[in-house]
Amino acid sequence: MERTSRISGFHKLTVQERLEKVKDFAGLTDVEVALFEKRAHLDISTADRMIENVIGTFEVPLGIATNMIINGKEYLIPMVVEESSVVAGVSNAANMARSGGGFFTSNSGPIMIAQIQVVRVPDPFGAKMKIYEKREEILQIANQQDPMLVSLGGGAKDVEVRVLDTDAGPMVITHLVVDTRDAMGANAVNTMAEALAPSIEEWTGGKVYLRILSNLADKRLVRARVLVKKETIKGGEDVVDGIIYAWAFADADPHRAATHNKGIMNGIIPLIIATGNDFRAIEAGAHSYAARSGRYRSMTHWEKDENGNLVGSLELPMAVGLVGGATALHPLAKIVIKILGVKTATELGEIIGAVGLCQNLAALRALAAEGIQKGHMSLHAKNIAVMAGAKGDLIDQVAQRMVEEGKIRVDRAQELLKELGQ
Ligand code: MEV
Repeated sequence: MERTSRISGFHKLTVQERLEKVKDFAGLTDVEVALFEKRAHLDISTADRMIENVIGTFEVPLGIATNMIINGKEYLIPMVVEESSVVAGVSNAANMARSGGGFFTSNSGPIMIAQIQVVRVPDPFGAKMKIYEKREEILQIANQQDPMLVSLGGGAKDVEVRVLDTDAGPMVITHLVVDTRDAMGANAVNTMAEALAPSIEEWTGGKVYLRILSNLADKRLVRARVLVKKETIKGGEDVVDGIIYAWAFADADPHRAATHNKGIMNGIIPLIIATGNDFRAIEAGAHSYAARSGRYRSMTHWEKDENGNLVGSLELPMAVGLVGGATALHPLAKIVIKILGVKTATELGEIIGAVGLCQNLAALRALAAEGIQKGHMSLHAKNIAVMAGAKGDLIDQVAQRMVEEGKIRVDRAQELLKELGQ
């Protein structure tokens, strides 16, 4: 029989039944299926409620970065990531940063934006004014959607309206500015935007299509700063200069900026995942903020103070929550929050910003000195040894030989395994 991915009622099946279907489709063995059935911390019924069509859960390593001081407070940083050198990088750079007292952070408050798009408005500039005239009514309608948020001091706070000239004609875009307190706030602001749509249509005579949050959360910024004494940087002043040249390169060139910023996200995303937050939202916000001038630029800034010490800074949107979503459902995410010891979403956001800056410091220091391969290679070599079939002590032996030879390849690992007697 032709195999097909069109499986009617797949979502109505039990996890076990879905797994059977996938087994038949892909020709999985019993051993492979058993791996899906192995249960970790996230129980299958919770997973089955979190997303659709669940057949299992997927584990990624969780490591702890050490040495972090933020605003004078010690933090251990849980990071969920598949890439080697990330956790070690944060730990090393956080250690260097202790020379200047660690990281210092601030934030602009937990403010999200929801967008409401009106098209086919005959008089867009008049319509814009009409919407402004209804500001109080707009805030009232929005806040009626979430009395709980309002009781916590949050809720819709402001309205901003623009006329946008687009290839599909002029549009009137309303921004609803909402304080979402300790929630990431996507559900809250989307509900408000949807509730406002009929009134906005009525006032403007246009047609509302989109009612959705903006991931360019540029009213929800975190800021982080670090000073690293030049003596604590291996390689001293020359490496300080190299770091500043590396930053200037990224800031001037989008090809380099993409990699530079990827390194920053190497710090940010593993912590976002560990806390059960939406990492796609953070990626979208960070990259769009980095392009806000019209050119894609560095998310960080590096300079020297009057004594030649290195000073780094970062400013990014950080739409993270402590309540709701996977943060509330995933048992490990709750424990991660306890390890971090954070009480508010803004404090969590600031830590994440500091970790991003810290990871950037780690990457730029290595790039400005010995390069990143040296650090990468020993862990990478172990993975290659495992891929070649090494087990137990042989993993380390094969990896070490490959690092010494500078040949880290599966074929060489296989040869070494034969040589070493497996
Ligand atoms: C690797 O995952 C990240 C780096 O490429 C970042 C950078 O180049 O700045 C090392």
